[in-house]
Amino acid sequence: MSLFSLRGFGVSYRDRGGLHPALQAIDLDIAAGRHLVLLGESGSGKSTLALALAGLLPRNAEASGSLARPGFAAPPRLGRDIGMVFQDPGGSLDPLMRVGEQIAEARHVNRGGDWREVSERAETWLERVAIPDPRVSARKYPHQFSGGQKQRIALAAALVSEPSALIADEPTSALDTISQHAILGLLKEIAGERGLTLVFVTHDIALASGIADDVAVLYQGRLVEAGPAARVFSAPSHPYTAALLATRLDLDSVRPTRFAEIDPRDFSVRVPGGRHG
Ligand SMILES: Nc1ncnc2c1ncn2[C@@H]1O[C@H](COP(=O)(O)OP(=O)(O)O)[C@@H](O)[C@H]1O
Ligand SMILES: [Mg+2]
Repeated sequence: MSLFSLRGFGVSYRDRGGLHPALQAIDLDIAAGRHLVLLGESGSGKSTLALALAGLLPRNAEASGSLARPGFAAPPRLGRDIGMVFQDPGGSLDPLMRVGEQIAEARHVNRGGDWREVSERAETWLERVAIPDPRVSARKYPHQFSGGQKQRIALAAALVSEPSALIADEPTSALDTISQHAILGLLKEIAGERGLTLVFVTHDIALASGIADDVAVLYQGRLVEAGPAARVFSAPSHPYTAALLATRLDLDSVRPTRFAEIDPRDFSVRVPGGRHG
């Protein structure tokens, strides 16, 4: 069963200069319980697709084609049925509210329950996302935590309502590599435990291969490749995906993947001083 099913789906943004396509002709099914990675370089349309799935497109966006959510029992509600985390946890956490209260309130708004019950759930979730001393931490404010901890707290706030899908838009891009992998591991574990459908947006192939069951590769607003991660990574069907993989293999792990080195005319890879021509 697909939770999300897109056919000929497109999004354009309107500004003074007219309409600018950000996504075009997207055909994609996201199966329940799978972990899908949306992979692509900056500006390829990943966030636009993530927002569309969540029903959060901004007012200047015009969608076309179809985006159905057949796997949900009733029309899904953001927060309750679909959770979302963003790159900047500051954007989803209220700086003036104790973190325990924020998580508890998310639960209360989406699922009800008395304050005592939702507060206990908040502490349980703080513990689940490995925030030390959850009882004490629940009474702290966001600024008292590190970036990685804030992202864990945002994750707890998104998951406490037990959504069936979580959409994570580059949730670890602002973090150091060690925190990135720790949060990815946690997310994978929780998603596995709960049968959560995960849509994970990233531009980082190493992270993608760490979590993906399925991969969808976006390039300039088009889906150039989609399929099981094992197949896409071992035998990409599109030259752009092949170029991405070549880029990764030729750059050592401390350097970020450099999509800009892929020539859009023929998808050849240019590495500075490199051998790819
Ligand atoms: N709110 C917006 N208004 C106008 N254009 C936008 C808006 N958001 C994104 N875009 C444009 O849409 C394209 C895709 O952007 P985005 O979905 O953010 O890509 P990604 O997340 O892969 O970097 C880009 O050209 C970007 O400039
Ligand atoms: Mg983005």
